[in-house]
Amino acid sequence: MCGIVGYVGSKPALSILMDGLRRLEYRGYDSAGVALVDGSGVSVTKAAGRISVLAAQLTEPMSQTTGIAHTRWATHGAPTDSNAHPHTDASGKIAIVHNGIIENYRALRTFLDKKGVKFTSDTDTEVLAQLIGLSYDGDLEEAVRRALHDVAGTYGIAVVCADQPGLIVAARKGSPLIVGVGKDEYILASDAAAILAHTSHVVYLADGEMASITRDGLQTTTLDAIPVTKDIEQVEWSLDQIELAGYDHFMLKEINEQPTSLETCLRGRIDLSEGQVHLGGLVDRMRDLVHAKRFILTACGTAWHAALVGEYLFEELIRVPVETEYASEFRYRNPIIDEGTVVIVVSQSGETADTLAALEEARQRGALTLGVVNVVGSSIARETDAGVFLHVGPEIGVASTKAFTGQVAVLAMIACLIGRRKHLSASNAAQFLEALAKVPDQTRSILDQADEAKKVAERYVDRENWLYLGRGYNYPVALEGALKLKEISYIHAEGLPAAEMKHGPIALITEGMPVVCIATKGTQYDRIMNNIEEVRTRGGSVIAVATEGDHAIEELADVVLRVPDTLEPLQPLLTAIPLQLIAFHAAVLRGCNVDKPRNLAKSVTVE
Ligand code: AGP
Repeated sequence: MCGIVGYVGSKPALSILMDGLRRLEYRGYDSAGVALVDGSGVSVTKAAGRISVLAAQLTEPMSQTTGIAHTRWATHGAPTDSNAHPHTDASGKIAIVHNGIIENYRALRTFLDKKGVKFTSDTDTEVLAQLIGLSYDGDLEEAVRRALHDVAGTYGIAVVCADQPGLIVAARKGSPLIVGVGKDEYILASDAAAILAHTSHVVYLADGEMASITRDGLQTTTLDAIPVTKDIEQVEWSLDQIELAGYDHFMLKEINEQPTSLETCLRGRIDLSEGQVHLGGLVDRMRDLVHAKRFILTACGTAWHAALVGEYLFEELIRVPVETEYASEFRYRNPIIDEGTVVIVVSQSGETADTLAALEEARQRGALTLGVVNVVGSSIARETDAGVFLHVGPEIGVASTKAFTGQVAVLAMIACLIGRRKHLSASNAAQFLEALAKVPDQTRSILDQADEAKKVAERYVDRENWLYLGRGYNYPVALEGALKLKEISYIHAEGLPAAEMKHGPIALITEGMPVVCIATKGTQYDRIMNNIEEVRTRGGSVIAVATEGDHAIEELADVVLRVPDTLEPLQPLLTAIPLQLIAFHAAVLRGCNVDKPRNLAKSVTVE
């Protein structure tokens, strides 16, 4: 999704803005632009395409020390030069960049048309720029305030004006904005990645808040001009965590980070001697969690797959009903939320629009809401009643990898934490946690065999349709493996509960069709072996993910990828990794943009 960067200070703004845009590229975009402002006016440069296209138009040195910049992921209006941000008002003195959707922009545009305003783009954002221009009478902050009172929808905006150089006015409703606090300088951005090179001290704007930012300070108010005191917080991530660090792709870096990201995720949270879990974010909610009558886990995409693993974990360890809901469905389905329902929202970014809306739906219906989130300070992290951070570090690749294993690990810990206060014995909990504590090292041994996954990609990369089969805890992993392949290599793949194949999809199997079967040792082993037989008799080519030491499977599978043995509920933490690697290598072999796949964004902040 779109990215915003703003700078006000004593340095030339352009290079800071362009570097900030590059650090937000992973969010996904299709055009970019920048507005620089000083006493002589507002200078806007913008272009469809990559940031390099914009940079090619900015070869002259620009000394302005105030500016705003934007990467746009097209919603209203095609990705063209004219639809790129920043947009200006009719006078050309006011420029704005905007993340979000102005839902009533058509009505506002009709109103402005009648006022004789001439539009130069098809965007909802230009409507807001013109509205601010119409409201402007010398005070930019007041003009923005007045305009926003007429706006319905979501926004994160930054606005500058030629009459007030050295000032950026920002406002937030439903689209994140963070202000980096430097020495006599401030960097405004959609997320911390664009700020970390300058400072780790930040102020998070909340929905309904505005900020007037100059090099001398930051004044925050509500939309009704009521002053708001904001704390300066510390971003826990470092710059090198958001850089490639020698890898060619963020996705491969993050796949290989999983031993350490899981160690960090677990650190200080599991007590093997007592068979206990310590999650500081849930301490005040334990009574509600122990007495919960039902859990609803809701998320999107990969996070939904992790939530589905969570459903199996919660039912096994806590023994209460659990449902996993797509956030986009949950929010519109008039869900039943009664006394004792706990809603757990799973999201890497903490900004996914559908997931945020599902959270709001749950809150309005009185549910206790927990967040399982990676980005500290994100909207979901701030709006849930309590929660647990993944602590897996920033995930830059659009395809979620270490966040998936982090989400599963956190859900496993929550299940054990609550289960221990219900029916889970100390010895069973200790056994579970001992197995969980071994997982980071076990992921290292899987990564040592990464070449085997690369060989699978090389062998089957030309096949246009794949199936992924799993049972029990590995059924969500089959879904996740298929999504990974689809979203970065553009090969069509379908994940299925293995037994479902004979209810239709088996008709798809043709000679040599790749069928990935997660066939690790456990309660479902014999049945998945039968499914493998069914695939083979129809000519399918079986790629098995199997437990180390299982040689029987070599009789049936064309290829075998190995994972160490662990308790069945923890197997997704291991079986997902070979599938991540297969997808990565297939995408590279097909020449796809692994970290920025077409049409995709790292955080889907629009519906
Ligand atoms: C997964 O690889 C995708 N990037 C996508 O499905 C993602 O998991 C989904 O959009 C949810 O994102 P979130 O975890 O940030 O809410």
